[in-house]
Amino acid sequence: MMYIIDTANLDDIKRCVEYYPVAGVTTNPTIISKENTDFLKLIKDIRAIIGPDMMLHVQVTASKCEDIVKEALLLKEAVGGNFYVKIPISPEGLKATSVLHNMGIKVTETAIFTQQQALIAGLAGADFVAPYVNRLDNIVSDGVQVVAEIVEMFKKHDIKTKVLAASFKTVEQIHKIAMSGCQSVTINPALFETLTYHPMTQYAIDDFNADWESIYGKKSIAEICEGK
Ligand code: G3P
Repeated sequence: MMYIIDTANLDDIKRCVEYYPVAGVTTNPTIISKENTDFLKLIKDIRAIIGPDMMLHVQVTASKCEDIVKEALLLKEAVGGNFYVKIPISPEGLKATSVLHNMGIKVTETAIFTQQQALIAGLAGADFVAPYVNRLDNIVSDGVQVVAEIVEMFKKHDIKTKVLAASFKTVEQIHKIAMSGCQSVTINPALFETLTYHPMTQYAIDDFNADWESIYGKKSIAEICEGK
């Protein structure tokens, strides 16, 4: 299971990369526009923070195959490292996916809402497909079920494309996706950071500290071991 953070906010990226086992960063035009800054500098700064090995997914805005391919090549050159071009699924996007796949450029097919979209994107050569869980739930579909069926379908048909579930609003959605066998999720930092918080954990830590201090005062284990 890979956790990826869905943001272009540099402070959030720095914090998440420092503290958590994240596998990369995903962006899209909405996420980028929230930062309201120089686009090229922003994606290069993200790469500088995460280093060359972590995945960085950046979305194209072009809609015609040849323009998508051109943007993908320019983006890859600009950000370097472990780069994935995100392409919203469409006939032109699928054509571009095949072209880029044949050129060795990694593709994440995004804005996936159905199992058949995912299957066709996989056959076109996408490395990841990104179904939108919460947006499916919002239209009275079942985002978790759609993802689970995509995962199952890829297994049955021996398609190597991975599923990158996206669009989350609750911890429960993420947990159910993890249970479905989905290989990866991308989550906004605020929701991602709630995954490791639990008030009972905090109570337990507070109790450990109070019990320690009742006998050893403020002395740390390191100070005791070093004879201080
Ligand atoms: O990566 C796609 C994701 O950003 C969509 O999430 O919360 O806008 O539905 P949301």
